Amino acid sequence: MSKNYRFDTKTIHGGYTGKNPENALNPPIFQTSTFTFDSIEHVEKVMSFESDDYVYTRGNNPTLRLFENRMAELEYGKGAVAFSSGMAAISSVLFSFLKPGDNVIVHKTLYGSSYSVVTKLLPEYHVNYKIVDLTNTEEFIKAIDENTKLVYFESPSNPDLSIIDIKKISQNAHEKNIKVVVDNTFASPYFQNPLLLGADVVVHSATKYICGHGDVVGGIAISQDNYYIQSLKFEYMCEFGGAMSPFDAWLLLRGLKTLGIRMRQHEENALTVANYLENHPKVKKVNYPGLESFNGHNIAKEQMNGFGAMISFELSGNLQDAIKFVESVELAQLAVSLGDCETLIELPAAMTHRGYPKKKIEEFGLTESMIRISVGIEDKRDILEDLEQAFNQI
Ligand SMILES: Cc1ncc(COP(=O)(O)O)c(C=O)c1O
Repeated sequence: MSKNYRFDTKTIHGGYTGKNPENALNPPIFQTSTFTFDSIEHVEKVMSFESDDYVYTRGNNPTLRLFENRMAELEYGKGAVAFSSGMAAISSVLFSFLKPGDNVIVHKTLYGSSYSVVTKLLPEYHVNYKIVDLTNTEEFIKAIDENTKLVYFESPSNPDLSIIDIKKISQNAHEKNIKVVVDNTFASPYFQNPLLLGADVVVHSATKYICGHGDVVGGIAISQDNYYIQSLKFEYMCEFGGAMSPFDAWLLLRGLKTLGIRMRQHEENALTVANYLENHPKVKKVNYPGLESFNGHNIAKEQMNGFGAMISFELSGNLQDAIKFVESVELAQLAVSLGDCETLIELPAAMTHRGYPKKKIEEFGLTESMIRISVGIEDKRDILEDLEQAFNQI
């Protein structure tokens, strides 16, 4: 975009390089697998990147390109690659940086499938990993060895909302030529921009806040290094084949238009819910970066523009109470995923984080009875009343 528009304008107008065809207000969905050429000379120009015309939707497509350009603007990147899911983005980025003999350092809490890729898949290709508490930069520095090539983490992390100092980790990593990849799914680009804090690549499960309506599975990786983006697109996304469908890109463009307004309401509701939980006699501990009592609160205040809407908490009771609680909510829905308009509730150890070894779960700072809530944008009074009636049943 030529003008330096603000966030809420960029989510609606960002990424355009010209007018939409036929002067349409909204971009059309280019629901096509392939594109036609005028001549072999045209083929040569496109295939040698002299022209940026399209070839095949697994390589690129105008609807996908608009979504990628808009996301690049929102995350202050120079380019982006869309993927068929958040996990397609994460695994492709990890494989793009890591070769046999390399070592990756990850934070102790990660989304369950990301944990599985790092601890089960990568070792099969002779990539080693170290699990570290990255909220402690000294531990990170101690874990670095001559084979460390990458540090990968979420901040806030899933499900315990660990806040990792992105600037500090990036500075220390770059001194040792280590790349930094941050999963920004929980914050969304509205509340945090890791590339501005020094990260090399930011990834999202676009399934969550970017979509916002629970009707798409998608992912995106963004960087300020255009050379890396080209390589990720044509050597990894294109060859592994985790391409996003044009219809999904169009739905995500539609979802993005309300990202700012949704995130403000999500956060307002979450602050109310977090305060309510913190003062509830049946609650032992609340993890929410917006609470002053929360460990990462001060770093979150420095590196984020807000605190998001993900909360996890522990009841004073036992696992049976936690099960009863998540089964008793009526408005909130018992489901994995997050970032939807609907309030979603779950037990990470039994659901999203099943891949974590049961015996070691406490070592990672998790418990079997931890409850996670993705606070939706319903009327907050209804959310509170729903939680209260669930508390009354335990
Ligand atoms: C933090 C985080 N990253 C990545 C993913 C994976 O995204 P997807 O389900 O779109 O593959 C999830 C899914 O819940 C997540 O919570």
